[in-house]
Amino acid sequence: MMIRKSTLAALGASFILGLAVTVPAHAEAVRDTAKWDREYKASVDRGDGLFHGGIKSTNEVACVQCHPEGSNTHAETYPKYQKQLGKVSQLWEMVNWCVENPLESKAIAADSADMVDLVAYMSNIRKGMKLAPGKY
Ligand code: HEC
Repeated sequence: MMIRKSTLAALGASFILGLAVTVPAHAEAVRDTAKWDREYKASVDRGDGLFHGGIKSTNEVACVQCHPEGSNTHAETYPKYQKQLGKVSQLWEMVNWCVENPLESKAIAADSADMVDLVAYMSNIRKGMKLAPGKY
């Protein structure tokens, strides 16, 4: 196939233009990911606080008393069948089972910032674990 000089020139020009656009875009991406990391860490930290007594509880019970350092929360196994709920459940549903039962408190809205932070905290503890949905 013949490639015309003008086609080559056009390709070269678009490559150079592409570079000009890509370099600042890359710098932007680095700034973005730094922000995403910061925001994620802040969410995990807020979840940590909630887990360690930050949830209003009528009986002064905190998650950490039964789950030291987030133990036995098994984020990587969700969704899965949970016998307490009698159905396949998400992690936040089990959080609310514990909020309503051991903590004798009011369920936290699934789409609230607090629930996102709690799930972030419990998932972060299991970072690197193989996903094992359905595992009990
Ligand atoms: C009085 C003890 C107690 C407290 C306090 C407690 N939990 Fe639990 N938690 C349990 C028990 C018991 C289970 C059920 C274990 C099972 O069968 O999976 C459980 C299960 C869970 C599970 C599911 C674990 C799994 O293996 O799938 C999560 C998630 C969880 N709790 C989160 C929390 C959070 C968040 C709090 C605080 C809001 C909390 N728990 C407070 C006793 C407690």
